[in-house]
Amino acid sequence: MGKYVIAGNWKMNKTPAEATALINEIKPLVADAACDVVVGVPFVDLPAALAAVEGTKIGVAAQNCHWEKSGAYTGEISAEMLAAMGVGYVILGHSERRTYFGDTDETVQKRMRAALDAGLTVILCVGEYLTQREQGVTNEVVAMQTKIALGGVSAEEMARVIIAYEPVWAIGTGLTATNEQANEVCAMIRTTIAGLYDQAVADAVTVQYGGSMNAGNAAALLAQSDVDGGLIGGASLKAADFAVIVGAAK
Ligand code: PGA
Repeated sequence: MGKYVIAGNWKMNKTPAEATALINEIKPLVADAACDVVVGVPFVDLPAALAAVEGTKIGVAAQNCHWEKSGAYTGEISAEMLAAMGVGYVILGHSERRTYFGDTDETVQKRMRAALDAGLTVILCVGEYLTQREQGVTNEVVAMQTKIALGGVSAEEMARVIIAYEPVWAIGTGLTATNEQANEVCAMIRTTIAGLYDQAVADAVTVQYGGSMNAGNAAALLAQSDVDGGLIGGASLKAADFAVIVGAAK
C-alpha cells in the first residue's frame, strides 16, 4: 500500500529551545528509519525545527494554515509563508481544530487547496466522534470528511496528500482503536479514494492511524494491511517512544 510515514503532532507543546533539544534527541534514534519521519511543531518552533533537522531526512510540519495567501486575517499564517520558510508539510483538519476552533469540512477544503498550491504535503485528519461510532455512521462521516476535503484535488496532487484516520474518542484518551477497527476504516478510506480517482491512486496513498498510538501498540497497528503509518500525539513528545514507533514502521 502507501509509503509508511510516522508523524509526530506536538500540538501546543515545546518552546523553540525545547524543540531543538527534542529533535536533537530524536535524530540519532531514527537515523536508520525505514519510513518517512515528520515532526509537527507549533508555528513559532518552525525555524528551530528546520535548523535542527538540517542534514537529516526528517520532515517538518506545521499544524494548520489559512486558505488566503495574505491579507487582513489577524493571527493567521498562510501556506505561502510556510512554504517560503522551507516547511514541507502541514497537518489540516485535526479534530482539535474542528472541535475548538471552528474548522469545518468546507474550510479544510480551502486550506487543502492553499497548501497544495503552495507546494506543501498535507496530512489530512478525519475521524468520527464516539456518538457517531455508536450510531453506526463512522464510515459515512469519515467518507464525507475525506470527499469534501479532497474536492478539487487532482490525481497528481494526491501524491502530496496523506490521510490520517483519527477516531476522536481515541485521541489523547489512551483508548486506542483495536487493530481491526483501525484497519477497517483505513481500508474504507482507501476504497473512497479509489472511487474518487482510481485504484492506482488509492494503492499509493498513505493512510495513517492516529489516536493513542504508542510504543506498546504501534507494531500491531502498523502491521495491519491498510495502515501505512501513524500520527502520534503524546508519544511523539518522548524521543525514545517516538523512535520505537518509527522502528515499528517497516
Ligand atoms: P494522541 O494524539 O496520540 O495523543 O492520542 C494523536 C493526535 O491527536 O494526532
